Amino acid sequence: MSRPLLIAPSVLAADFSRLGEEVRAVEQAGADWIHLDVMDGHFVPNITFGPDVIKALRPHSKKIFDTHLMIAPCDPHLDAFAKAGADIITVHVEAGPHLHRSLQAIRALGKKAGVSINPATPESAIEYVLDQLDLILVMSVNPGFGGQVFIPAVIEKIARLRTMIGGRPIDLEVDGGITPETAPKVTAAGANVLVAGSAVFKGAGADAYRANIAAIRNAAALARGEAA
Ligand code: DX5
Ligand code: ZN
Repeated sequence: MSRPLLIAPSVLAADFSRLGEEVRAVEQAGADWIHLDVMDGHFVPNITFGPDVIKALRPHSKKIFDTHLMIAPCDPHLDAFAKAGADIITVHVEAGPHLHRSLQAIRALGKKAGVSINPATPESAIEYVLDQLDLILVMSVNPGFGGQVFIPAVIEKIARLRTMIGGRPIDLEVDGGITPETAPKVTAAGANVLVAGSAVFKGAGADAYRANIAAIRNAAALARGEAA
């Protein structure tokens, strides 16, 4: 049984001056999850937002808040993100020496635990934490910015991760450069959750977002052999 295909728009590409409105628009447009990119200017060369912004967004949506922490260290902040309303908390394997401890802490807070791997990180880096995981987030660009070009070498990594996951109940998510052109490639390799920022928040308002999400979803569904 393959896991359901889900589209997770990244608000990194939204209008930050109207974030609540943008989250409502993208939910209305068919988003499955809301992807929240937290950056610290240290682990990645850019700064976005923290738990207070996520807390402010929480009343605007009932969707899963898929929280991607690009911060180091992450452990001192996990509690704040859990309290802010994150449903999934994903940390980077490259962000610290105690990945297993971070994942245990996320689950102890009652949240789903995810781990993300950068383009240059091999899948073997997470082999020994598979049973601590609810989600694997494969970066298909170098983290830090939206609107970058998809790195094709990750397609084979996705396929190897799919095999490594086996029958475990783990979502396989891809983040960076996802468009209607790249979405079929990663879903054919075994990914089931697609993050998209610039390809979703193109144009303005729910009608444009609906068409953008549908284009990604339909292309990916076809690659999975599902009716679009
Ligand atoms: C990059 C972020 C992504 C980003 C994707 O560090 O993790 O979630 O928003 O943006 P696009 O879809 O524009 O590549
Ligand atoms: Zn992200």
